[in-house]
Amino acid sequence: MLTQTRPHPLEIIPEDEADLIEQVMEMQIQIMKTQDPKKRGQHPKQQALLRGVFEVSDSVPDAMRVGVFAEPRKFDALFRLSTGPNPKDSDPNPHGFAIKLIDAPGSPTGSQDFIFLDQPTFFISNLADYVAFFESMVENHAEAYYKAHPHDFGLNQTFNVVISSHLERQYWSEVPFAMGQGAARFTLIPDPDNVSDRDPANTPDGLREALEEYFVTQRRSAKFLFGAQAYIDEATTPIEDAKSVWPTLFDTIATLTLPAQDFTAPEQFEFCEHLSYTPWNCAPEHQPLGGIQRCRKRVYEASSRLRHGLTGGQNVEPTKADFDALGQDL
Ligand code: HEM
Repeated sequence: MLTQTRPHPLEIIPEDEADLIEQVMEMQIQIMKTQDPKKRGQHPKQQALLRGVFEVSDSVPDAMRVGVFAEPRKFDALFRLSTGPNPKDSDPNPHGFAIKLIDAPGSPTGSQDFIFLDQPTFFISNLADYVAFFESMVENHAEAYYKAHPHDFGLNQTFNVVISSHLERQYWSEVPFAMGQGAARFTLIPDPDNVSDRDPANTPDGLREALEEYFVTQRRSAKFLFGAQAYIDEATTPIEDAKSVWPTLFDTIATLTLPAQDFTAPEQFEFCEHLSYTPWNCAPEHQPLGGIQRCRKRVYEASSRLRHGLTGGQNVEPTKADFDALGQDL
């Protein structure tokens, strides 16, 4: 994991941030204790671990040609598709799509992770609001919070819905990453050919069934475009307001290809349970930016440590040999 926590020139760090992060840590550990603490503290349900290729485009804008996007090339990548707190896929949930590039240049762990959800921005602006919201929930005063923050959650029409398949969704990083001295937010756009004619999930494991039908039974491959929208200035594209909508357009800077593959072996499922995806698994050029990201550093580490401590597993970053050992292309 990136150990450097020196602020990036684009960050503005509030004085009370360390206390707020401590409070989020405590809340997160409490949440884990009420769930299965051997699972991830958020997005615990693994739908699939898929292998594929992340190909950096040959037309990356000059300002974004840094880190893993410095030159056109291919990376082996592992994708963890997940869902949020509701264990049944037929219930509304947020849907996660996490990417891990293997053998990424410059990353202290060898991995470059990008983590996405199917909503355009985070649901809350900053850590102070995050703590206030969770405290209001614990104290049963959430309504007072909503009154004081009428615009929170408003943009997230795609949050908490029932979907047909992870392969048909658009995803967003929601929060920014450095691109060298500049910054960007990212999106994943599904290829129109990823679409199947399935109904929204109507069984408890409908989303995993959709992926099995697609990759294993029908032997189809899926594609996504990886887009980046550039930071302009603090007024137009705020770094520290995770709920803000950035008005800049997305440029395609990479494509993801997930070939037809058999991902269903129980060992593959187990292997993924021992992986940790965090935005802080990164090259220094892609340092995560903003208060929400700075908080994620400690919280993801703590969640990973707690669950690995209980499972007796170890958090090791995957190698090319691990990648090659996973369910092969069909
Ligand atoms: C203060 C804000 C946040 C907190 C406290 C938080 C907390 C967590 C924790 C504890 C985990 C499990 C880590 C592990 O055990 O490996 C996790 C995973 C995840 N988070 Fe967050 N998170 C935050 C913000 C975000 C944001 C902005 C996104 C938007 C993309 C996001 C999307 C995800 C996803 C998709 C996963 C699952 C990753 C995987 O597949 O392993 N989180 N989060």
